[in-house]
Amino acid sequence: MTARISPSILAADFANLESELNRIANADMVHVDVMDGHFVPNLTLGLPVVKRLAKVSPIPLDVHLMIEDADRWAPRYAEAGARSVTFHLEAASAPIRLAREIRKSGARAAVALRPATPVEQLAPFIDEFDMILIMTVEPGFGGQSFIKGCIPKIQAARQIIDASGLDVWLEIDGGVTPKIIAEAAHAGADTFVAGTAIFGVADPTAEIIRLRELANQAYAS
Ligand code: DX5
Ligand code: ZN
Repeated sequence: MTARISPSILAADFANLESELNRIANADMVHVDVMDGHFVPNLTLGLPVVKRLAKVSPIPLDVHLMIEDADRWAPRYAEAGARSVTFHLEAASAPIRLAREIRKSGARAAVALRPATPVEQLAPFIDEFDMILIMTVEPGFGGQSFIKGCIPKIQAARQIIDASGLDVWLEIDGGVTPKIIAEAAHAGADTFVAGTAIFGVADPTAEIIRLRELANQAYAS
C-alpha cells in the first residue's frame, strides 16, 4: 500500500486559495470541504468556487460534500471538474444510484460515514464505490481531535475492501496529525485528509512528505 495525502483547504487562507494550492502541489489531491449550514453547522463554499479551483489547481480535487440533498447536487460537482466526489451516506436517499451518476459524470464516486455510522452496510455494494471515507471527527469543523473509537471501523472497512479484491481507496478525515497517522495507516487507511496539520505549519510541502513517509513506514512495519 502507498499512502495518499489530501490536504484540506478548510485550514487554508480563503482569500488566497490559488496560492495556497501551489503550496501543496506535491500532495496527491486537494480536499475541498463543501458545507451547507444544514447537514453540518458550518457554511463554506459551493459550485462556483469548485469550478474555479478545478481550473487553477495543479492537483486533482477531492470534493467532500457535507450537504443535505446530496442526490441533487453531487453529480454537479463531478461536472464542475472534481476528480472525486464524496457524499454522506446519511444525506443520500439513493446512494447506489447516486454513485452511478457520479461515475457517469466522470468522477470517482465516494461515500462518507459519520463516526457513529456502521461500515458493514456497505459491504454488499462495495463495487459501486471508488473510495470510502471514514470520518474520524464529527464533520463540520477543522482542528478537532481524532476520535480513537474509529480505529476498529477503519479495520473493518479495510477487511471489506480486501475481501472484495477491488481497488477501493480508504480515506480518513478529521484530526489527522503526525502523531496519529501511523496507527490509522496500520488499521488500513490509505488516503489521509489533513487540514490543520498541513496548513498550520510553516512548510506545508515538507509536512506532506513527512506524513506520507510516516504512513508508508507503518505499512512496511
Ligand atoms: C471536517 C472536514 C475536514 C477538516 C479536517 O468536517 O471534513 O476535512 O478540514 O480538518 P483537520 O485536519 O484540521 O481535522
Ligand atoms: Zn472533509
